[in-house]
Amino acid sequence: MLSYRHGFHAGNHADVLKHFVLIELLNYLGQKDTAYTYVDTHSGAGLYSLDTGYAMKNAEYETGIGPLWERDDVPAALQEYMNLVKGMNPSGKMRYYPGSPYCANEVMRSQDRLRLFELHPSEIKILSENFRKLEAHKAEQGERQTVRGKRIMINAGDGFEGLKAILPPPSRRGLVLIDPPYEVKDDYRRVKVCLEDALLRFPTGTYAVWYPVLSRIESKQLPERLKRIPSNGWLNVTLSISGPNPDGFGLHSSGMFIINPPWTLEATLREVMPYLVRVLGKDVSAKYEIESGETVTVKVKSPVRAPVDRSARGTGRAGSPATAGTGRPQVGSLRTSNANKGGARTGAAPVASRDLGQGKRTARPANLSKTRSR
Ligand SMILES: C[S@@+](CC[C@H](N)C(=O)[O-])C[C@H]1O[C@@H](n2cnc3c(N)ncnc32)[C@H](O)[C@@H]1O
Repeated sequence: MLSYRHGFHAGNHADVLKHFVLIELLNYLGQKDTAYTYVDTHSGAGLYSLDTGYAMKNAEYETGIGPLWERDDVPAALQEYMNLVKGMNPSGKMRYYPGSPYCANEVMRSQDRLRLFELHPSEIKILSENFRKLEAHKAEQGERQTVRGKRIMINAGDGFEGLKAILPPPSRRGLVLIDPPYEVKDDYRRVKVCLEDALLRFPTGTYAVWYPVLSRIESKQLPERLKRIPSNGWLNVTLSISGPNPDGFGLHSSGMFIINPPWTLEATLREVMPYLVRVLGKDVSAKYEIESGETVTVKVKSPVRAPVDRSARGTGRAGSPATAGTGRPQVGSLRTSNANKGGARTGAAPVASRDLGQGKRTARPANLSKTRSR
C-alpha cells in the first residue's frame, strides 16, 4: 500500500525529534576524517513546502517546528537543527521544511556518501528532482562538485531489501535511518528482520529507527523487540506532546530507537528533551522518556540459561539488589520536568563472559539495561 505522503506530516513533533537526533548522529560520525555512509531506507521527498500543498491540510508543523520557530531560548544542542531549518528559509518566513535526506546532505561532508531509497513513484521523482536542483545549486556556488552517482545515490526501490546490498559500507563507518510509514503492520516486523540482518552484515554500524507510539500492539512491542536484537548497545527516546486524543486519532507520541548509539547522545538528549516537552507539550501528559542498555553476547563452553532482561520484558520490577535501580526509564513530563536527577544502573544476572566486540554470537543475548530512577 503506497498511500502515505510525508508532506502531510512535515515538520510535526515527530519530525523534530527524528531530525534533531539524526543531525546529532551524523555530527558524531563526522568527528573523524574517515568517510562514512548514511543510508536512508525510507527517504520521502527530501524537502517539503509548508505553505502550499499537503502540509497545509492539517498544518501538523504547528505541533513541531512552528512553536520553535521564534524561540530565542533554544538549548545549544538543538541550535544546529534550528539553524539548518532556518538556513533553508532565508526570508525568515517558515516556508520549507527539510526531510531526512536534506538534513543529512547539509551535515555530511564531500567525502561522505548518501544512499537514499524510496518506493513511492511520485515521491522518488520529487526526491530526485530536489536533489538534482540542490546539487546543481551547490556546484554553481562552487561549494561542492556534482558527484551524483558517487556521493549521492538515489534508488527507486524497497529500502528494507536494498540495505542488504550496501552493508557493510566501504569504510566500515555508517548510519542507517529506518523510517517507514507503519501504515501496514508488516512494517513493524520488517524493521526488526531488517535490523537483525543488517547487524550481522555490519555489527558496528549505528542504526536509528523512528516509530510511532500508538495503542496498537505492534507499536507497543517494537521497542521491546529491538532491545533484544544482539548489538553493542541501544538507546530509546520518546517524546509525547499530549495524552492520546479521546477519538484515538492523531499522533501524539513517537520514539527514536538507536542501536550502537554514540556515547555522547544520552547527555545531549537530557539537555534537549525537557525543553521540547516544555515548548511542544500540550497538556500534563506531555513527557519524554530516555532508556538505554547493552545487549551483550555471551560466550559459553557449555549451555547456560540466558540471564533475564527485566527491563526489556517491561515488568517494571526493580533491578537486582546490587543495583538499587527502579527498572523504570528516565521520565520527564510537564508536571515533573525537573525530576530527572541522579541515575542508577540496573543489570541482569552475572554472565560467564561478555563479547562487546564485533558481533561474534555464540549464544542468545543477555541484556544489561541502564535505567534511571527519579
Ligand atoms: C515517513 S516517510 C519518510 C520520511 C523521511 N525519512 C524524513 O524524515 O523526511 C516514509 C516513506 O517511505 C516510503 N516507503 C514506504 N515503504 C517503503 C519501502 N519498503 N522502501 C522504501 N520506501 C518506502 C513512503 O513512500 C514514504 O515516502
